[in-house]
Amino acid sequence: MADRNQTSESPEKKAAGVYAASLVKSGDAVGLGTGSTVAYTIKELGRRIREDKLDIVGVVTSYQSEAIAIEAGVPLTTLAQTPKLTIAIDGADQFDENLCAIKGGGAAHTREKIVSMSAARFIVVSDPAKKVKHLSVSVPIEVMPFGKELVVTSLKELGGSPVLRAAAKKDGPVITDNGNFVVDCAFGEIKNPQELALKLSQIPGAVEHGIFMNVDEVIIGKADGTVEIIQK
Ligand code: A5P
Repeated sequence: MADRNQTSESPEKKAAGVYAASLVKSGDAVGLGTGSTVAYTIKELGRRIREDKLDIVGVVTSYQSEAIAIEAGVPLTTLAQTPKLTIAIDGADQFDENLCAIKGGGAAHTREKIVSMSAARFIVVSDPAKKVKHLSVSVPIEVMPFGKELVVTSLKELGGSPVLRAAAKKDGPVITDNGNFVVDCAFGEIKNPQELALKLSQIPGAVEHGIFMNVDEVIIGKADGTVEIIQK
């Protein structure tokens, strides 16, 4: 998984993120994902609002994307006010040939799933390294602290290797924006993500898992600034 503390520019992520912003039109309500790739999208939307008079509202998926959107000057709303979004744009940790994706490297996947499922069109922005034949990175699962033991036991019964995600610069576990834990569970190569997603959804105390079956389109940025677009 990518280093989440990466601060250096990535031309590939930038190409994907900036291109995705060009797909947004005035009048759109836009789901704003979390992570280093979609951060380029949010900043570019801010530039288009200032320079091109783009007229949009955004719904954020984390405190991080909220801060970036405010800094960029993107007007924000909530799902309570705007339950139907035109488009949602977000990064991913990995995606396969069928555009099934794993998300949650930044522990924001619960809000990301709610926001992306609220959108008519869901676009993932990525660098080339995240495209794989079979998903294989650990699946992040947001867990209600009260249910952690049952979730961990259930994940082992499914053949997974669950690990409670540890916080950086804080003793103990990561606490999500929703006040929960995250368990990262390795399953090896995931040949049938849909089946696994269904099983994970049935575990009591597992608030949300990071398998996304609702991606419509992936934009892969290249180092030369061009993009490859894969549609479902
Ligand atoms: C946040 O929890 C994640 O789902 C991110 O969207 C995902 O990890 C992609 O992040 P980067 O764009 O920083 O690689």
